[in-house]
Amino acid sequence: MGTPNPNGERDGREWSADAYDADHAFVYEYGEGVVDLLAPEQGERVLDLGCGTGHLTETIAERGASVVGLDASAEMIERARKSYPDRRFVHADARSFDAEFDEPFDAVFSNAALHWVPEADHDALLASVRNALRPGGRFVAELGGVGNVEPFAAAIRSACAARGYDVESPWYFPSVGEYAPRLEEEGFEVRHATLFDRPTALDDGEAGLRNWIGMFAAEFLESIPVEEREEILDYVEEELRGAYFREGRWVAPYRRLRFVSVRARR
Ligand code: BEZ
Repeated sequence: MGTPNPNGERDGREWSADAYDADHAFVYEYGEGVVDLLAPEQGERVLDLGCGTGHLTETIAERGASVVGLDASAEMIERARKSYPDRRFVHADARSFDAEFDEPFDAVFSNAALHWVPEADHDALLASVRNALRPGGRFVAELGGVGNVEPFAAAIRSACAARGYDVESPWYFPSVGEYAPRLEEEGFEVRHATLFDRPTALDDGEAGLRNWIGMFAAEFLESIPVEEREEILDYVEEELRGAYFREGRWVAPYRRLRFVSVRARR
């Protein structure tokens, strides 16, 4: 799912599994392409890291793998268990989950989740993934890449600054040049890494931007008094409307970082 702090931090905020499934289905729909990149094989043991409500976990299982979903949000895990009672879902932190499993995995998969783990914690996360994989096992992932939704973040920051609030982005969106060395440092060989634009139409017409902010960018506004938030959202909409509202829909300037890596055998 890629979903919000699906890893380390998703447990630090409230995740609405209902809103996620109802209004943001594009996250797991686009994730099907990452499953293609994973190319799961019959009988392989796969971990879906940051599985959210479990839709891609199920897709991977339907392709014949034996898959476990893991997420830091208790609400997401509860929903995943209800939706897919035949699958195993584990509530754990992506930075320290390796002790949860006795058998090594053939592959670790992650869609739209890793950017919720703070930049400083990615070495711990990668060490956890490496330890969970057999030598030669794959780590295949997509996350937001450098510049992802930056115009949206800039509009929110500027609306908050105009009212005297200095707010920080909750996300980590690395470049290829930044992330590939981190993978190598933690014992992976990088076989493929790419950054690309994927403008993404949001659901719910006029309300789409507000809904998106409520689901994915709520941390920006956490420290702002509730009575000031509406004005901030009005400002953000007006700032962004000219460039990002087309034919009745908001289009988010998503940029994706995708990679295929393998746990080194040495
Ligand atoms: C993303 O999947 O790119 C994303 C998710 C949440 C916030 C911002 C971007």
